[in-house]
Amino acid sequence: MKGGFDHYMQKEIHEQPESIYQTMRGRVRMEPQVQEGSLDPYKQQRIKLGGLAEHLETIRSGRRIVFVGCGTSYHASLASRQTVEELVNLPVACELASDLLDRRCPIFRDDTCVFVSQSGETADTLAALEYAKSRGALCVGVTNTVGSAIARSTHCGVHINAGCEIGVASTKAYTSQIAAITMMALALSEDSISKREPRDAVIEGLAHLPDKIRQALALDGEMRELAAKLKGEQSLLVFGRGYNYATALEAALKVKEVALMHSEGILAGEMKHGPLALVDESMPILVVATRDGVHKKMVSVIEQLLARGATKHLLVVCNEGDEEVAGLCASHGCSLIRVPQVVDCLAPVVNIVPLQLLAYHLTVLRGFNVDQPRNLAKSVTVL
Ligand code: F6R
Repeated sequence: MKGGFDHYMQKEIHEQPESIYQTMRGRVRMEPQVQEGSLDPYKQQRIKLGGLAEHLETIRSGRRIVFVGCGTSYHASLASRQTVEELVNLPVACELASDLLDRRCPIFRDDTCVFVSQSGETADTLAALEYAKSRGALCVGVTNTVGSAIARSTHCGVHINAGCEIGVASTKAYTSQIAAITMMALALSEDSISKREPRDAVIEGLAHLPDKIRQALALDGEMRELAAKLKGEQSLLVFGRGYNYATALEAALKVKEVALMHSEGILAGEMKHGPLALVDESMPILVVATRDGVHKKMVSVIEQLLARGATKHLLVVCNEGDEEVAGLCASHGCSLIRVPQVVDCLAPVVNIVPLQLLAYHLTVLRGFNVDQPRNLAKSVTVL
């Protein structure tokens, strides 16, 4: 059942090149094809999401898009928010289901609410769905379980097709959720002439994603070595911003839920507003600094951490060939986690892979239960 792996979580991390491919299979036309009689290849539909086709116009003409989820599924919507904002040009909110319910958050009939859930059974997400429905919003499901309560109760949706996920810690569903929401943004922007170029870049990025994930998985041995250095530590701070704020939150969630080590994902822009006080020479810190629109700012974050003496365990996720970050880190003996570069909006998919592996190896080395973490259940069906 575990296909030669020791644990389901490990198996599911390594399945990601295939699961992400399954999410896209039959839905993304990678190459624009010139149709006979038409000189404009863009007249062709390149994204086909059958479950959404009839509702695309309603969503485009709506007031805003509100993503709702819990835990890792919430992180997947945060990771994709900027993509939807940029391609669809609508305001996008990301809500934790329990908080939306606590606040009785205003939801309107011209809102589109997207419920993101691996299991499709999470009680808070389901209750938020019933609430949004009662307010007259269009409710869309992004789930991994056909026939689940959320899949049944939503008006329409996208099945992520990641395959059964058994480990309590969600891994392959996270990356497939990001790919599915990205495809949703591509489908919603299909008509926009001004978005042709960025759309083409994202579609090209999707085509290469399984290979890029495979390259990131090759870091397995390095991640085991880093885990061995960290295993006796008490805490790990994880800094990210932009698309990779979600990567920081998700990496910290994996470390705390399976390796049972305190870990906090921090928006790097907030560093000076409190978290910097925790930084000293002994604090383990992970920084996600791959090349994207906020790369310069992340280089400055590394410089500031180094200036505060954070050198014992400074781990930096950067792109292969990034000599600026490599040079900065080499002079202070920091560890580099070199991942392949992809289009900015898909970087969270690739960047999380070595961090999932790090959390996995930390758990094994610390002697905890990988697939059934203490006090947790795969699907939280009570409020
Ligand atoms: C963390 C994890 C949880 C789930 C959360 C929502 O690894 O798995 O945080 O993401 O309980 O579950 P779903 O996605 O089934 O609604």
